[in-house]
Amino acid sequence: MSLRSSSPLSSPRSGASRGDGRLRERRRRRLETRPGYVVVPDLGEPPSSPTRRHESGLVHSATMVARALASKYKPLDKNSDLITIELFYPCPNAKERYTLAYPTTAGEYNPVHDIYTTVPLILENCVTEAYASRFGTNRHGILRSIMKACHTKDPHGLASAIEDYNDEMQHYWSALSLPDDTFVPFLAQSASYDLVVHMMEQSYARTVAPFADALNHYTGFSNNVYGEIKHRLVAQIMNTVKLKPGMVYLDMGSGIGNTVLQVAAEHNCESWGIEVMETPAALADSQRRDFTERVRLYNKPCGTISLLHGDFLNTPAIDAVIQRADVILVNNYAFSAELNHQILAKLLDVKNTVKIVTLKAFVAVERRLSARRVDAIESIFRVTEHYFGKSCVSWTNEGGSFFVHTVDRASG
Ligand SMILES: C[S@@+](CC[C@H](N)C(=O)[O-])C[C@H]1O[C@@H](n2cnc3c(N)ncnc32)[C@H](O)[C@@H]1O
Repeated sequence: MSLRSSSPLSSPRSGASRGDGRLRERRRRRLETRPGYVVVPDLGEPPSSPTRRHESGLVHSATMVARALASKYKPLDKNSDLITIELFYPCPNAKERYTLAYPTTAGEYNPVHDIYTTVPLILENCVTEAYASRFGTNRHGILRSIMKACHTKDPHGLASAIEDYNDEMQHYWSALSLPDDTFVPFLAQSASYDLVVHMMEQSYARTVAPFADALNHYTGFSNNVYGEIKHRLVAQIMNTVKLKPGMVYLDMGSGIGNTVLQVAAEHNCESWGIEVMETPAALADSQRRDFTERVRLYNKPCGTISLLHGDFLNTPAIDAVIQRADVILVNNYAFSAELNHQILAKLLDVKNTVKIVTLKAFVAVERRLSARRVDAIESIFRVTEHYFGKSCVSWTNEGGSFFVHTVDRASG
């Protein structure tokens, strides 16, 4: 039985009597007239596999709950019905539906926790200070009411506090729509690291997490071993290579597209990735659709995101990006020596100013050309080693190194 059909707010069930149907329809209309309340729409069956792509971009929080089994989510208050509300975002008419339920298993997506973290981040990052003060703080006003209702798992208190929040947000929408330039510099600011990570976690929970097990289907000790660089290390790497807005970034072997999304939103760069495996490539596409919409909801700028499904050794569009790229990431931790060599051959046409970041060095650190014969391709790069701390990559909790290659054609 699905969660939707157990909810008194859901669409009429097949097989229900006509009288029941009318009653439900009347109740549905009455609820729909209350601002902030919506009826969970019929969402159809969940996608059966990660390769079935979502046609529309945003995956609403309520969709996640509606697609889950009824046993996975419970109403916040056992004496109360499931309520679905709309949460307004700081971009005119941008809304997301949330069903106020909590998961019965630890680690499952939690809509109330999502609201609890989303609202303060919106107020800190996406609403001008003058307007943010109208929402109160975590000690008084609307923000406090939302925090308190989340803590006490009070669905009606939370729905009512969010109605107040939505009313204020509508004032902000009106201000944004006025034909003056007051907001232009504010709206041009890129999302902070914390906000980017939050948006990515929202997209991941909605599009990748339900299929995360499928990412472990690869041949062990092959070039397709799946592993991820965590957000913190991506930020450290981009800081080290001094990535700037407008630059071109490429992730060769981009998996589910995480680094590509982060760089586009955090640094406003033209951001590219390519992944050969079907499952991560399909999940990357779902994530991109949700994430692109989500950045728009938060009213933040974002560079263009292009995630291709293909072989980076054999994709002309990527050859063209390699020639323009300012920063190239190759997470080659599990790549064979042969594949590393083939990648190096692809990198002969890079710009002189490019920075190529790898998890295993292409060339020996501190190489001395005179000491040994250096391969012609390797000899155009200089490499420096940089250290990262614990819990920065998905395949180990230990710290490690990344390597930055710069072009030095003169000594090659
Ligand atoms: C360790 S994962 C890295 C994911 C992501 N770049 C990160 O660091 O978080 C390496 C990915 O490279 C992909 N890959 C290996 N050979 C490739 C090729 N020839 N073309 C495109 N992708 C490839 C693998 O399938 C795998 O998903």
